[in-house]
Amino acid sequence: METIFLVGFMGTGKTTIGEKLAHIIKVPFYDLDLQIEKSQKKSIPTIFKEDGENMFRKYETEELKKMPIKNAVVSTGGGIVSKDENIHYLLKNGVVVYLDTPIEVIYNRVSKDSNRPNAHQKTKNELELLFERRLPFYEKAHFTIHTNGKMPDEITMEIINCL
Ligand code: S3P
Repeated sequence: METIFLVGFMGTGKTTIGEKLAHIIKVPFYDLDLQIEKSQKKSIPTIFKEDGENMFRKYETEELKKMPIKNAVVSTGGGIVSKDENIHYLLKNGVVVYLDTPIEVIYNRVSKDSNRPNAHQKTKNELELLFERRLPFYEKAHFTIHTNGKMPDEITMEIINCL
């Protein structure tokens, strides 16, 4: 099978769902953010602070290209769509599933999270603007799953049903 790439804004549950999905369909799971942290040997907030977001995006694209394009589930970071090149790569090399969560729910989940430099201490309006900028790219995914009000197991089964 083609690798399943989960995309969506910060706090939509990509890692939680990705782990569950990989477990059920019995393939390896990769969290792209974790892969970046491993190869750079520092945390994401530290990368943002020391190297800047542009370098983070460069590392992200490099790690994406290292992911298997067969028999795996990969959760991507919310900003993977910042580069056109990445969107094309994802759509060409795997099945792309967008986890769609309302911005109000996202805001409550991520705005106090110091591990997410692009969300931490942002106002609701600032976060909404970022979300709106990215939305047209998330919407290019092969499948969209609405997550609101659903438990992770239910979301995972919905993905399996549309594959
Ligand atoms: C980012 C999302 C994060 C991580 C980094 C930047 C973003 O991943 O890649 O903090 O710009 O949206 P999650 O979507 O897993 O939080």
